Amino acid sequence: MLQDALERLTANEPAAIDRLIEWLRIPSVSTDPAYKADVAKAADWASDHLKASGFSVDIIPTGDPAGEGHPIVLATSEGDPDYAGPHVLFYGHYDVQPVDPIELWDADPFDPQRKPADDTAAERLVARGASDDKGQVAMFLEAARAWFETTGKPANGVKMTVLLEGEEESGSINLERFVADHAEQLKQCDVCLISDTGMLARGRPAITYGVRGLAYTEVTLHGPSHDLHSGLWGGKIPNPINELTKVLAKLWDHDRRVTIPGFYEGVRDLTDAERKEWEGLGIDDNTALKGVGLTPESSVGEAGFSMTEREWARPTAEINGIFGGYTGHGAKTVIPAHATAKVSFRLVDDQDHEKIRDAFFAWLDEHTPPGCRWEKVDHGGGAPATCATDSPTLQAARAAIEQACATPPAMIKSGGSIPVAGLLKTELGIETIFMGFGLEDDRVHSPNEKFELDCFRLGARSHAALMGTLNSPA
Ligand code: BES
Ligand code: MN
Ligand code: MN
Repeated sequence: MLQDALERLTANEPAAIDRLIEWLRIPSVSTDPAYKADVAKAADWASDHLKASGFSVDIIPTGDPAGEGHPIVLATSEGDPDYAGPHVLFYGHYDVQPVDPIELWDADPFDPQRKPADDTAAERLVARGASDDKGQVAMFLEAARAWFETTGKPANGVKMTVLLEGEEESGSINLERFVADHAEQLKQCDVCLISDTGMLARGRPAITYGVRGLAYTEVTLHGPSHDLHSGLWGGKIPNPINELTKVLAKLWDHDRRVTIPGFYEGVRDLTDAERKEWEGLGIDDNTALKGVGLTPESSVGEAGFSMTEREWARPTAEINGIFGGYTGHGAKTVIPAHATAKVSFRLVDDQDHEKIRDAFFAWLDEHTPPGCRWEKVDHGGGAPATCATDSPTLQAARAAIEQACATPPAMIKSGGSIPVAGLLKTELGIETIFMGFGLEDDRVHSPNEKFELDCFRLGARSHAALMGTLNSPA
């Protein structure tokens, strides 16, 4: 039967790619209110696709007041009456990141370009959302469609709930409430499956068993009531940019450990076994550094950890943006009235994103420069999420990937964050398995984002194989 579904997948491929291109044409940028109608259109598109594959679908408005947020697509398939496998919650997001800087794109980000393979690159689709996450959700949708066309049953009779979010790229602001409001229904699910991460490399599929959490803040330091002449006032009153940068520089010690009291609470030591296993993956740091224009000396981070360990197992503090004063052309002598920084923390293990935010804000208060005042904004975040590597569903996913491409997946973690996974774990006790097919050079969130068609094919085959494995008599 799997063979039939895989053949159907192959036969459907040209239409599948056309469908994905259609979806990518819809500019579903969640963070910008100007695109609200397009975000809704992208939700409708996904809903239609799921309906065509036999799912029952609801489009549920979110936000307070109702409808102020972007909708969630919630679909279900009954499953065979004698289905004995896990009830799988498939999660994906249909919103995308903003496109700027637009001038660095080779073509309109919402006019998807299908590029053939050449000497330097593989066959690929270039568009915003190609890899993060529409292209990866489409792998699942096409697998479900192929099974429906093969057996007449949605998802091959696997009991499934599908949750597609439209606010992942803007902080999942309404998700917590949605999960609380739908807790009874979501609790029916045994495990969550997400395709929104990457492989180890081209031809080296992977299952990601953990992502980091996130706490995102914005802090402004206020000084004088208005901008001042720096000759008349400089050096005798606080300059908020000078003071802000001096305070933020204290966030790290000599070993580049974060200095906020209690920051490492809940962070576990790496086991020797894990260190060894990760070392054995053959990740080439220097090649990765070269890919972003750096050299081996640029491996800079917390002392005592490899680059992989720093990304997968250690928390960090980052300044994502900093602004204030004069930033226009030429010179203007000025002491600014205020300065702002966007400061975020990536979190691991049992670190609590709300506690970390509070600890950072308290630390700022302790370090308030004389004559200045803080204004602090919480931009949300999410809990870290790691899953057991020996669960039956994870084993089924491993087997499915191996069936799809004859290569067993590597077990990896990722430094990125996917808020829903932390929520499902802390609120409902549901673990998430990340079965993603992106590549490190997909340029997610950047100009010329792409998704390689070989990744799309491998992902679709893996999802089809998983639907086959989950509903096969023991
Ligand atoms: N899909 C990414 C996260 C990701 C990418 C995980 C690659 C692993 C490998 C997701 O869409 C994302 O961008 N998440 C944000 C968090 C969000 C709160 C804006 C992130 O990690 O910064
Ligand atoms: Mn994503
Ligand atoms: Mn993203």
